[in-house]
Amino acid sequence: MATQFALGIDIGGSGIKGALVDLEAGDFATERMRIDTPQDSTPANVAAVVGEIVTNFADQLGDGPIGLTIPAIVQHGVTLSAANIHPSWVNCPAEKIFEDALGRDVVLVNDADAAGVAEVQFGAAKGNPGLVIMTTLGTGIGSAIIHRGALVPNSELGHLEIDGYDAEKRAAASVRTREGLSWEDYIPRLQRYYETVEFLFSPDLMVVGGGVSKKADKFLPQLKLRTPIVPAVLQNRAGIIGAACLAVEKVAQN
Ligand code: BGC
Repeated sequence: MATQFALGIDIGGSGIKGALVDLEAGDFATERMRIDTPQDSTPANVAAVVGEIVTNFADQLGDGPIGLTIPAIVQHGVTLSAANIHPSWVNCPAEKIFEDALGRDVVLVNDADAAGVAEVQFGAAKGNPGLVIMTTLGTGIGSAIIHRGALVPNSELGHLEIDGYDAEKRAAASVRTREGLSWEDYIPRLQRYYETVEFLFSPDLMVVGGGVSKKADKFLPQLKLRTPIVPAVLQNRAGIIGAACLAVEKVAQN
């Protein structure tokens, strides 16, 4: 029988959040627990916080799978970059560090990959039989490429170079706030970004996540694209739910 419950933990630049996820319902089975990310967000300090969250859910989780997300490229458990977390995550055997700290297996994935998987399984792209590209507009731009339900990990489309700029430096939601851009000023940046992604990948559906997607009506209808582009529906639950999905998938493969 497929595993129904898994713990998802979303490691972000400001908070580390976890909840038990019911994979049949596609939603949280418990309240979410949040702890501030340690100021000094080194692997050891973050692992200690993750340990607190795992302990909190230990009774309900039993020996169920644990999935973790992190704002970094994660190749075979090794973090190769670090966005808004301590630079010591670069080239760090992160999955192993968590496993050693917790004394049990975990699955570590990129944050946007997890969010994309959740949106495809339970959210805005549910049941889409083709190529889905999820982007998260936040401090940076995260991305997930999912083809017929299979994730192509670590796509990093926030770092496409467009017109000589790293795309997220022009079009992330944080840039709009930081530069005090009106929607009128910001929308052309999103247009340029999404038309480039569309041209390069010809997706069947694009999903836009991140906090700003709550205001999707302010910008999505203005974009001129041939691809349908829709707001994410799982919002800040997506990372936790997607991490849980990917953990269950990995356990099933082993
Ligand atoms: C990072 C990605 C991450 C995204 C969202 C980007 O700056 O390169 O790895 O997924 O931010 O956090």
